[in-house]
Amino acid sequence: MRQGSMKVSTLLLCVFSCCALNANAASFNVGSYGAKGNPKVDDTNAFMNTWKAACASSGDVEMVIPQGTYYLGQVKFKGPCNFNSITVSLQGVLKASTDLNKFVSGDDWVEFSFFNGLKLKGGGTFDGQGSSSWSKNQCPNKKNCKVLPTSVKFVSLTNTIVDSVNSKDPKFFHFGVLQCKNFRASNIYLKAPQNSPNTDGIHIEKSTTVVINGATIGTGDDCISVGQGNADILLSSIKCGPGHGISVGSLGRYQNEGNVKGLVVKDSIIFGTQNGVRIKTWENSPSWSYADNMTFQNIQMNNVYNPIIIDQNYCPYYNCDRSAPSKVKLSNIFFKDIRGSSLSQAAVTLKCSKAVPCQNVNLQNINLKYTGGSNSIAQCANANVAFSGTKLPAACTWS
Ligand SMILES: *[C@@H]1O[C@H](CO)[C@@H](O)[C@H](O)[C@H]1NC(C)=O
Repeated sequence: MRQGSMKVSTLLLCVFSCCALNANAASFNVGSYGAKGNPKVDDTNAFMNTWKAACASSGDVEMVIPQGTYYLGQVKFKGPCNFNSITVSLQGVLKASTDLNKFVSGDDWVEFSFFNGLKLKGGGTFDGQGSSSWSKNQCPNKKNCKVLPTSVKFVSLTNTIVDSVNSKDPKFFHFGVLQCKNFRASNIYLKAPQNSPNTDGIHIEKSTTVVINGATIGTGDDCISVGQGNADILLSSIKCGPGHGISVGSLGRYQNEGNVKGLVVKDSIIFGTQNGVRIKTWENSPSWSYADNMTFQNIQMNNVYNPIIIDQNYCPYYNCDRSAPSKVKLSNIFFKDIRGSSLSQAAVTLKCSKAVPCQNVNLQNINLKYTGGSNSIAQCANANVAFSGTKLPAACTWS
């Protein structure tokens, strides 16, 4: 009896608190703060004022961007905030200004930073309107270039969920995830032309526990790049193509970079890309670092130029400093159940550093056919490699 009444009262309490919660959930609509959704009107201030009110509010709050097209310069959704969590319901289309003078140098377009509990969802779109700025991007040609704005940057956030969000034509990267803890994204659609420069899909840096589960990415650079200082990263159900594939790196470019620990890329399809899964590090790195414990598993490659590639002589420019080998040590790398077609004969390239050879590279059940007819090959240097299961290519050709 006592047990039964406990259950009923618990249920009542739950119902009551759920209703109370809904009644209290403060909702902030950009329309109420003056957003017009009119191409002649810059809605930046209206968005910033909406954020100011939401950020100052307590409990679980909501910010609503209804259907419509909004024209924006830089917007910074910055904490610390009073709320417990915020749901940003993006139903409309946000269009970035095409006037680069509206962007402070080095800054991004939309930034969520320094708070806890973001849920970004709603099926809306970030349109970076990048096409007019791509020709002004010097980064593919020189090392010290002025970086254009990333469309959406997530900085120093904890407990983030991004679900059902689209991005097209960013000026630079689509999404950047920097110094985040527990960041989870799903149902992400990112699109830019194949020849748009540096339009990486999602770049992750200095973050811990990042899960991207379900993303369709066709873009001009890496679909996803896992940079320095990351730990516990899971990328699954990724559809990548066109683009440059899924990358770790580039690493070893700057002084005192963090290490990469614990990456899994699985259950994905990569098609029509320059690379499939790649680890890239610069030569003559200014300091030592490492990337350890990386697994790439159950990946279909269709017409990929370099399906599996470790490149420790990474040089995207014509004049890299090649005076010393890379100081980034790579170890415990597992390539498992990777199949499909390679547009180059070297379906597997493992070019590791002379200073710190790759340790424990495993190729298990690899079945990559060269589209040119003859058998595919594996080109290896400075690596400790083990083949098992299905072996196509069959063994390393050493250089
Ligand atoms: C390797 O990384 C995975 C994924 O982050 C993690 O679960 C596992 O514990 C790591 N293994 C070692 C030996 O550190």
